[in-house]
Amino acid sequence: MRPTDLSSRCTCVVGLQWGDEAKGKIVDLLSQEHDVVIRFNGGANAGHTVVWNGHTFKFSLLPTGILHSHVVGVIANGVVVSPPQLLQEIETLHKAGIDVRGRILLSDRAHVVFPYHQDEDRLREKGTAQPIGTTGRGIGPCYQDKVGRNYGIRVGELLDEAHLERRLREIVPHKSRWLGAFASQAACGPANPSRADTLPTWSSGEPSSDKAILELASTYADYGRQLQPWIRDTVRFLHQAYQQGKRLLFETAQGCLLDVDHGTYPFVTSSNSSTTGLWSGSGFPARYLERVVGVVKAYTTRVGAGPFPTELDNHLGDYIRRRGKEYGTVTGRPRRCGWFDAVAVRYTAQISAADELAVMLLDVLSGLDEVAICVAYDLDGERIAEFPSDAHLLLRCRPVYERLPGWKQELAQVRQLADLPKEARQYLDRISELVGLPVGCVSVGPDREQTIFPP
Ligand code: GDP
Ligand code: IMO
Ligand code: MG
Repeated sequence: MRPTDLSSRCTCVVGLQWGDEAKGKIVDLLSQEHDVVIRFNGGANAGHTVVWNGHTFKFSLLPTGILHSHVVGVIANGVVVSPPQLLQEIETLHKAGIDVRGRILLSDRAHVVFPYHQDEDRLREKGTAQPIGTTGRGIGPCYQDKVGRNYGIRVGELLDEAHLERRLREIVPHKSRWLGAFASQAACGPANPSRADTLPTWSSGEPSSDKAILELASTYADYGRQLQPWIRDTVRFLHQAYQQGKRLLFETAQGCLLDVDHGTYPFVTSSNSSTTGLWSGSGFPARYLERVVGVVKAYTTRVGAGPFPTELDNHLGDYIRRRGKEYGTVTGRPRRCGWFDAVAVRYTAQISAADELAVMLLDVLSGLDEVAICVAYDLDGERIAEFPSDAHLLLRCRPVYERLPGWKQELAQVRQLADLPKEARQYLDRISELVGLPVGCVSVGPDREQTIFPP
């Protein structure tokens, strides 16, 4: 991979594990050579980090590439958008001296996350015996309303206050009744007392009062007015941009193993977080993609519940967490850490049509006597090399490891492949061989400069 590789006009960056693979760093690097950067799935559950000129920027809804002044950032139809969160993100960048306002486009078809979605998310998690460990951002409930069709509200609808009010009059009493019943059933208190002073608690019954609905409609119509300059039909924009010869970069949120269809269901997110979501989530045909960069950590992490065959619930896991600062970008939760799983990545590389790997956070593994790669699973005494489609089967899988010598040298200053310890090169070669893809980029630190491009 070359950030200056001009051969591809249409590129997608996708995480091949359970999210947080450091996609933000790769999107930032590739943005130098792209004109439009597009988010097409997920919402404020994403947390993409870019370290730039000594500053750390965290993106949830805005495309990461927006840091580059020539880039137009598109939030496409497949994203679920919390307007206050988006406005806050824009404001934070503005305060850091980066004016993004003329360079954002927000799809009128994207769905809106309301406060009752966030309450529903938290209540569902509290009230179930099998929590997913969501980010609590209302992502699942908003996508549910989108697909269910009765209660979904799209960004374009924020622009007509009378219409919005009518819709909320229909939706809020239902939501309030449902959440109230659910809250008492789950025997837990109000879902989000911290917000009680600004908005009514959706599970208390009170929000269905006329005053509360009017307030909500007025608040969200006001958000609509603030966002209006950027709201448009982004499908048309993307096709026009492509026809004009612009270079497009798609930034996937989450990772393939969290994909609602292809991941470890039900321990997944509610969107297609592999390249499969690109076409529906943006209206731009995935068959125009010329390059798919699959991003992996040199090990594996996961936040939330669900099977994780190579998890290291021991001092090695703690070592990786400490060196990799493995705490969630959005929620601050400690990430579960484990060895690289070549079975899983071979599978996700296949469904995402990845052309190359970007191997991130290699520096974290320095100091270990030995490193390990999972090359197969043992499922009830049988050795399997394919990733199971059923999460409950995956739960029973035990990793079969290939062990390789570790290396002591710190890697943060290394800039050439030849300067890596030979054990680290062996490790990369083996990952590449097992996954069946070339390594186009190796990252040895969060900063842009801490990147190695193999010749
Ligand atoms: P994303 O969601 O895929 O964009 O990843 P996150 O931003 O949630 O998490 C990746 C974290 O790793 C961020 O804090 C990055 O700054 C950091 N990071 C990126 N590349 C490297 C690297 O090569 N080494 C180390 N030590 N940290 C890195
Ligand atoms: P980025 O884009 C890591 C996980 C949550 C939970 C599951 C469902 O930064 O890689 P949700 O709130 O989406 O309903 O939670 O998905 N999850 C992520 N894990 N990185 C992310 O995004 C994630 N977005 C959601 O922890 O297990
Ligand atoms: Mg993240």
